[in-house]
Amino acid sequence: MSSSDPEVPQIFHRTVVEKKNFRATCEDSVYSLVDVVVVDIQLDATKPAFGEAEKGYCDISAFREGIRTLGQYIQPHCMVLVETTVPPGTCEKVVKPILEEEFIKRGIDIVANPPLVAHSYERVMPGARYVESIRDFWRVFSGINPKSIELCREFLSNVLNVKEFPLTQLDSTNASELSKTMENTYRAVNIALTLEWAKFAEQIGVDIFKVRDAIRKRQGTHDNLLRPSLGVGGYCLTKDPVLANWAMGALFGAQGSLDFAIRSVNVHDTMPLHTIEIIRSVFPNLHNLKVAVLGVSYLEDVGDTRHSPSKTLVEFLRKDLALVKAHDPYVEAWPELEEIQVQSELTNVLPEADVVIFAVGHSQYKTLEPKQLLEMCNTKPLIVDCSNFLSDATLDTYKALGCKVRGVGKGHIVN
Ligand SMILES: NC(=O)c1ccc[n+]([C@@H]2O[C@H](COP(=O)([O-])OP(=O)(O)OC[C@H]3O[C@@H](n4cnc5c(N)ncnc54)[C@H](O)[C@@H]3O)[C@@H](O)[C@H]2O)c1
Repeated sequence: MSSSDPEVPQIFHRTVVEKKNFRATCEDSVYSLVDVVVVDIQLDATKPAFGEAEKGYCDISAFREGIRTLGQYIQPHCMVLVETTVPPGTCEKVVKPILEEEFIKRGIDIVANPPLVAHSYERVMPGARYVESIRDFWRVFSGINPKSIELCREFLSNVLNVKEFPLTQLDSTNASELSKTMENTYRAVNIALTLEWAKFAEQIGVDIFKVRDAIRKRQGTHDNLLRPSLGVGGYCLTKDPVLANWAMGALFGAQGSLDFAIRSVNVHDTMPLHTIEIIRSVFPNLHNLKVAVLGVSYLEDVGDTRHSPSKTLVEFLRKDLALVKAHDPYVEAWPELEEIQVQSELTNVLPEADVVIFAVGHSQYKTLEPKQLLEMCNTKPLIVDCSNFLSDATLDTYKALGCKVRGVGKGHIVN
């Protein structure tokens, strides 16, 4: 996937062309030559039933095999730094025992040479400031023993801007792993709360976004209230609460469950269905309804479609036999929904549309004047704003031009 951050090609040029110190390989034996291995391989949560994240689990077999390969090759002095978001307990209960097992098979004395394992998690934000979000940001870390902690501190200090963003050391890898999953769960619960209140606001004629602005004026306690939208996507918030909930029983044998965490994932996963309810309030029958979905990635001005809420939206619209076309300026292909050909030209999706959904707030849509959009449609479609993208003035213009207008959390604009 290409990056919209201009620093990315600069870094590739510096390391590949100038310094020639960047090498890519799929040869496992290279692990025997290195002092540090950064593990950032994917570890997914499986949610076997839609809207029932409580049934979610984590299949760690591929991750285990990746770690086993390391154990077969690394030198005892090599530090394994796990940056993958893992279920709490993974470094101590999965990584360490596998490395010990492989070291013993190789005749390495694990008392004299215990495996060196550390955990430090990514807080990377895709988009135009991708590199900055890694380098110039606070990092949390820990290790399974003092030597691992020391090596991890040294390594991170060499690659990150720790002068301005000092490292945060936690007591154990369990703590560091829990910190990552709790950090994302906090965000997930915060968003889930706003989604719930957005529905309430719609029922009682209130604009939730103006309410949110009012609440956020309380600096220091309430300024972090997030916003509702079509739903929540991406690789992290959709799985991390499930990883933690699974770890509780599966890795620690602990009782109970992380109910807020799980509830938030269920709210997120099912939220796109609310936009379909909004459409139904105008068009009770979706059969043959021509729907244009603007935006299929999960984030503004980013082309990442992983777990995009637009996928759920499109799938359920199609289940009800709506005729869906999708546009996204950043997405050429939609691997999670291959049967939909994502268009880069609005003129390929808007003509004859009965409904136009502003699903993602990409910048390109900001310059789209209502008159211009309606000319492309050649209809007076229902306009649905899922991301507080259209101002009241723009919505009024659509109304004046004969369109019905609706929006997630926008109870004030019924016409
Ligand atoms: N992308 C983000 O924005 C982001 C943000 C915060 C945290 N994270 C976390 O970072 C981790 C990685 O995320 P990502 O988005 O880069 O995932 P990704 O799926 O894009 O990348 C994982 C890579 O690991 C490779 N891989 C799998 N098994 C391997 C093995 N045994 N040996 C070597 N390589 C192997 C895969 O081929 C793939 O290229 C995840 O735990 C994620 O939750 C990601």
